[in-house]
Amino acid sequence: MRIDILTLFPNIISAYINESIIKRAINKKLIEINIINIRDYTLLKNGQVDDTPYGGGAGMVLMCEPVVRAIEAVRDKNSLVYLLTPQGASFNEEMAQEIVLKTKHLILVCGHYEGFDERILNFVNGEISIGDYVLTGGELPGLVVMDAISRFIPGVIREESFKDDSFKDNMLDYPKYTKPREFRGLKVPDILLSGDHAKIKEYREQEKLRVTKEKRPDLLK
Ligand code: ADE
Repeated sequence: MRIDILTLFPNIISAYINESIIKRAINKKLIEINIINIRDYTLLKNGQVDDTPYGGGAGMVLMCEPVVRAIEAVRDKNSLVYLLTPQGASFNEEMAQEIVLKTKHLILVCGHYEGFDERILNFVNGEISIGDYVLTGGELPGLVVMDAISRFIPGVIREESFKDDSFKDNMLDYPKYTKPREFRGLKVPDILLSGDHAKIKEYREQEKLRVTKEKRPDLLK
């Protein structure tokens, strides 16, 4: 099994994988882990990978270009690509096992700051959340997913299982967008460029409901 972890903080990942059971699994060639720095794939001179959100709001949003280019540098037709986000499908043992059965090449994309430009979803197989809480970045979740998956690889560890679930405000976040306005034909919704903050707020509330219904309908029950 090969796992490529895309991140802006490679040291977080290397610190973990160079210890203990994972290190042993790597040495035994049961698992191959590659760390890819998303910053290496920006086309902007100053190494910029994020920008302010269209429509306003707090924090910075990871841009399409560096993230999609980093994914495209490592993926092939058999790869499975997942973003680590709080909006993703809840990760559990069943999912870990399923991933091991489905692919020999997993790509985990760790976000940071306020999240990914929503259009990046068009370039991945899905989103994974490790639980209903918001962490400062996707590195820990990426490591959690990698670690849980590696336990299903024969020879890494003895078989074992557990489950985990729960959520805070019963609602997922609205989609975010940053520059450029159009990326490979995918446009930022017009309303976010309107400057009408009342409308944007209303639109985002609707989007929260739409996204929650679409991605996690169980939260609305
Ligand atoms: N990024 C921030 N919080 C996260 C979570 N709970 N799961 C996956 N990625 C995240």
